[in-house]
Amino acid sequence: MCFGITLVDRVLGKTLSFKDKTIAITGASGTMGRALMSELSKRGAKLVALTTSPNVSFQTTDSDNQINKKIEVLTWQLGHEAELRDRLQKVDILILNHGINVLGDRDSASIYKSYEVNTFSVFRWIDLFLETIPDADNANQKEIWVNTSEAEVNPALSPLYELSKRAIGDLVTLRRLDNACTIRKLILGPFKSELNPYGVMSASFVAWAIAFLAELGLRDIIVTINPITFIAYPVKEFWRSLYFRLFSHRKQ
Ligand SMILES: NC(=O)c1ccc[n+]([C@@H]2O[C@H](COP(=O)([O-])OP(=O)(O)OC[C@H]3O[C@@H](n4cnc5c(N)ncnc54)[C@H](OP(=O)(O)O)[C@@H]3O)[C@@H](O)[C@H]2O)c1
Repeated sequence: MCFGITLVDRVLGKTLSFKDKTIAITGASGTMGRALMSELSKRGAKLVALTTSPNVSFQTTDSDNQINKKIEVLTWQLGHEAELRDRLQKVDILILNHGINVLGDRDSASIYKSYEVNTFSVFRWIDLFLETIPDADNANQKEIWVNTSEAEVNPALSPLYELSKRAIGDLVTLRRLDNACTIRKLILGPFKSELNPYGVMSASFVAWAIAFLAELGLRDIIVTINPITFIAYPVKEFWRSLYFRLFSHRKQ
């Protein structure tokens, strides 16, 4: 029974309503960033676009399919995440979605860039957001979503993409042992975008599925056409989490 409850806790986070939630999303000008903003706006969320691209414009539609231009746009730069610390205080859900794929490159610059963008920058955002929780009025609403990839368990035909995404995937598994807030992972298969022009799913379908599964409360949100991921990911996550729980501890 106790094991059953623990298992349910591990699979499910909190069920969720997006209505009137303030949701900030990185990689906002990219394909998934835009698709998620559009989907979450339809479900009643207030959006903050976090982008590294100056001069991009955003618009979404609301639940009545009316054009809604009220998106707050904030620019940020790699290594300067902390400049937006104050704004994070009132954010309910932070979606970490930015990412790069250097494909077959393996030179040192590509190694540093892959880890800096896909792993360390994402982790800095997580730390910043967690720092806002103790003083936040909305502490019990706060969540982080991290868009890792099914590359956590499957080949992506891009070694540095796999390495850097597996690293952030494992760091999230480690950090969420502390239960500071709900941290969901998005484990996505190939969708068509600038990062992956050969993706077979559409970003709008993937964004709809993410929102639907998050509303159900799933902590690890898997959207893919690859059946192996539905087995390999939960098995890997269970053992990884158990190993981390046994051999690491919270700093007092
Ligand atoms: N496409 C797929 O098949 C697939 C599958 C699984 C997971 N994913 C993940 O989904 C996320 C979104 O990818 P996407 O396919 O939508 O790709 P995308 O259209 O290329 O969007 C990625 C966005 O990340 C931001 N970004 C790019 N380089 C950056 C840098 N050096 N520093 C900080 N931000 C940077 C940019 O947004 P701003 O200019 O707005 O900052 C860019 O538009 C990524 O994390 C990716 O790994 C993709």
